[in-house]
Amino acid sequence: MGDIFIVGVGMTPFGKQPEKSFRQLTAAAVGQAVADAECSGADIEAVWFANVGQGVLEGQHAVRGQIALSAAGIEGIPIFNVENACASASTALSQAATWLRSGQGDIALAVGCEKMCVPDKQAIFDLFDGCWDVHNAQDNFAAVRDVGSELVPEEARTAEAGSARSVFMDIYGALARDHMQRFGSTQRQIAHVAAKNHFHSTFNPLSQFQQDMSVEEVLAARGVSWPLTLPMCSPVSDGAAAAILCTRSALSRFNRKRAVRVLASVVAAGRKRSIEQYDQHVCQRAAVRAYEIAGIGPNDISVAEVHDATAFAEILQVENLLFCERGAGGHFAESGASKLGGRLPVNPSGGLESKGHPIGATGLAQIFELVTQLRCEAGARQVQKPRFAIAENGGGFMGVEEAAACITVLGGPAH
Ligand code: COA
Repeated sequence: MGDIFIVGVGMTPFGKQPEKSFRQLTAAAVGQAVADAECSGADIEAVWFANVGQGVLEGQHAVRGQIALSAAGIEGIPIFNVENACASASTALSQAATWLRSGQGDIALAVGCEKMCVPDKQAIFDLFDGCWDVHNAQDNFAAVRDVGSELVPEEARTAEAGSARSVFMDIYGALARDHMQRFGSTQRQIAHVAAKNHFHSTFNPLSQFQQDMSVEEVLAARGVSWPLTLPMCSPVSDGAAAAILCTRSALSRFNRKRAVRVLASVVAAGRKRSIEQYDQHVCQRAAVRAYEIAGIGPNDISVAEVHDATAFAEILQVENLLFCERGAGGHFAESGASKLGGRLPVNPSGGLESKGHPIGATGLAQIFELVTQLRCEAGARQVQKPRFAIAENGGGFMGVEEAAACITVLGGPAH
C-alpha cells in the first residue's frame, strides 16, 4: 500500500467569531480545501470529522460530522466522528490516511471544527476539566499542584489565586517549574518562545492575535499560573481547518506540483509515569517512530509546528522532537534558532498561543501551515527552501503527559 498526498488545505481565521455558526465555520474550511485542490465536494469518498466540545457547549452530543458537513453539501458517504482532545484533528488526518492506504478509496477529507467562544466561560473550563480522568481529578491535581511550588513568588501566588483558567494552565505551570528546577530553564526563556510566536503571527492574517510583543512585555503581563503569563497561554478560539488527501493512483487528478506527501503519521497514547522520566515522554516515543517510518531524522527537518498550548510546552516539545538535547529547549528558543530566519523555525504560524487554539481544529491548522510552507506559499513568513516538515499535536493529560500524541511528517512537492 502506497504513498498518500495532501492535495488541498483550508482554514478559517481563528479567534472570537460570534457571528459564525459551527456549520458555517466547517463549510468555510471544507470549501477552501476543495477550491485549493481544484476538485468538487462530490469527489470526496469519506470524511473524518474532528471536534471536542460541541456536545458540552451546544448539546450536539452525537453525529456532529454528519450534521455539520450536510451544511457544506457533503452527505451520503462514510463520515467518521473523531474525538481525541486537542489532538483530534491530527488523529482524523491519520485515520483518513490509514483508510486510503487500506485501499478502500482514493480521496478523503479530514476536517476539524471548534466553537469555544460562548458567553458562559465556566462551560469552557468544565470542558477542559473533562480532558483528563474525571474520576481521579483531585488526585491528579494533587500530583502536579505542588511541583516546584517553592519557586512561586508570594505576589504571584496571591494575584493568581481564584482567577478563572483552564486546568491545563496549572498543569503546564507545574511542568515548567519542574523543568526549571531540573534543567535550569528560566521564565525569560519561556517569554522568548511567546515573544517569537507573537512576532510570527504578525505575518499570519488568519491569526487570532497579530500584535508583536517583546520579551519584556510578555514578562510584565498578568500572571496565569506561575511562571506562565497571559501571552504565554493559548486562548479560547473559534475556527476550523481541513485537508484533502489522496492515493498515488488519484494524484494525476490533482496539481502534482502542489501535492505534499505524508511520510509518517503516528498516533500514540500516554502512560502513567513519573515526572523525571522525560525520555519516556509520549511525544518523544511517537516522534522516534515517525522519523523511523519517514526514513529521515531531526536534522532533515526544515520547519515544525508544535503544540504550544503554553510557551513552556514548545520548550518541552522541541526536546521531544530531538531538535536539541534534553533540557536545552529554553536555550534553543533564546538563541533564536526557532525564529523565522533561524536554524529551524518552529511555529511560523504563530502557534497555539498567538494564532489561537480551537481545540478540535488545531491539528489540521498545523497541517495547513506546513503544507503552505512546503509549497513555498507562506509569503512574509516563508521558511527558506523547506524540504521536510513535522507537526506535533497533543491532547488531554494522563498523569504528567499527554493522553494522545500525534506526529505527522510531511515531504515537499519534490518528495
Ligand atoms: N496572547 C495575547 N493576549 C491574550 C492571549 C494571548 N495568548 N490570551 C488572551 N489574551 C487577551 C485577550 O485578547 C483579552 O484582551 P482584551 O481584554 O483586550 O479583549 C484578554 O487577554 C482576556 O482574554 P479572555 O479571553 O477574556 O481570557 P481570560 O482572561 O478569561 O483567560 C486564559 C485567559 C489564558 C486563562 C484562558 O484563555 C485559558 O485558560 N486558556 C487556556 C485554554 C486551554 O487550556 N486550551 C487547551 C490547552 S491543551
